[in-house]
Amino acid sequence: MADEATQAGEDDGGVATQERSDSLTVTDNRTGESFELPIEDGTVRAMDFRQMKVNEDDFGLMTYDPAFTNTASCRSEITYIDGEAGVLEHRGHSIESLCENATYLEVAYLLIHGDLPDKTQLENWVHEITIHTYVHENIKKFVEGFRYDAHPMGMLQATVGALSTFYPTAKNIDDPEERHMVAVRLIAKMPTLAAFAYRHNLGLPYIYPDNDLSYPANFLSMLFKMTEAKYEADPRLTRALDTLFILHADHEQNCSTSAVRSVGSSEVDPYSAVAAGCAALYGPLHGGANEAVLRMLDRIEKVENIPSFLDGVKDKSERLMGFGHRVYKNYDPRARIIKKNVDEVLEATGTSPKLKIAVELEKHALEDEYFTSRKLYPNVDFYSGLIYEALKIPTDMFTVIFAIPRTSGWVAQWLEMSDDEETKIARPRQIYTGARELDYVPLEQR
Ligand code: ACO
Repeated sequence: MADEATQAGEDDGGVATQERSDSLTVTDNRTGESFELPIEDGTVRAMDFRQMKVNEDDFGLMTYDPAFTNTASCRSEITYIDGEAGVLEHRGHSIESLCENATYLEVAYLLIHGDLPDKTQLENWVHEITIHTYVHENIKKFVEGFRYDAHPMGMLQATVGALSTFYPTAKNIDDPEERHMVAVRLIAKMPTLAAFAYRHNLGLPYIYPDNDLSYPANFLSMLFKMTEAKYEADPRLTRALDTLFILHADHEQNCSTSAVRSVGSSEVDPYSAVAAGCAALYGPLHGGANEAVLRMLDRIEKVENIPSFLDGVKDKSERLMGFGHRVYKNYDPRARIIKKNVDEVLEATGTSPKLKIAVELEKHALEDEYFTSRKLYPNVDFYSGLIYEALKIPTDMFTVIFAIPRTSGWVAQWLEMSDDEETKIARPRQIYTGARELDYVPLEQR
């Protein structure tokens, strides 16, 4: 039962105010009882509501929050987002500064270890990742077993899950060496698995990793190498891909990350938990928006059609894909960064008619009250599809490429989750709405 939560007070102007207290007073009108719940970090604990009962047998009050839109499920030091201000930071470093100064592998180290590496740490980290890019030959045979037209994301999800059978000691989730090796192996092997899936779809031989190349350059080599002795990617493309990797590395408690944490809370091995993350990312509401942007630009066809397309958006017969975000109610900071890369990529690959439409479309939308009043700004997917297309990456592969860098975020979040003393197996409650205590009717009488 609560103490008195607040007391009347007087401010300097003599107006009665309430003394501030970091607590919430709730009166249960069913019983007339009042409760004081502590507020910590802008939250109240859902379990504090359980004490509110109508009688001794009552289970206690629960909170109802489908899709967890207003429920914090963990404490985290990894990624900070201020959606209103358009801010994204990893371990305190702004995404702008990381894209400007760091490589993706440096960011992966930062996410996982908590601090930027010094020179030796970075060299060791890059070396470790580089020498773990190969996969067991049986993984190759496993990929060969898929139909020629299998979706590459389905193949990726299956092969990541299969890694747990190749590294069975990964189930020792408290062993520091195992935890380290899981991080290294997953980050190292993800591009190899992704590229094998791509080559499988094309009926082309799989290309083994080239340890002389950087992380993004090696990925491009595994995708595109043909008869040449060594594949040499244009450095502008390598840098653009590395930037895309940084931009997609982590985004706090989104659907796939929550899936990794939730599945991981059962103490299953981390390969299986990350496979669950891949499954969540596979969904069109999560990883598929950039593909939809390209389809939309195709439909618009030419700049002259933009006004009529936007009319369709306003009467809700169309949706402006690549605009709007559940969290960002301002320009997605990742979109601003990507936009700069598009020009450089197209300089290397040749211009795309879709870019002209995209730029004009953005301009029109940002000048239109319908979009500004709803705080609809470009998100990361508005331009990422254009870059992938310029790199000649087929649309089916877009989500697979998203999964490569997101792996470092998933692993960082998994490590944090399994170190958190408050972690328990994830087990939400429900409001049961079905029938009860029915009589069993024999089959012949139904
Ligand atoms: N085009 C047109 N109108 C839009 C759009 C859009 N892209 N997004 C939101 N709106 C409108 C809604 O119709 C609604 O208008 P109303 O008030 O007249 O009904 C208003 O803006 C608020 O929209 P909500 O649906 O409440 O916004 P929510 O936060 O739920 O949706 C979402 C976010 C799903 C991302 C949405 O903006 C959308 O569908 N965008 C297009 C798809 C997309 O680009 N997704 C990628 C997100 S980034 C990522 O996942 C990596």
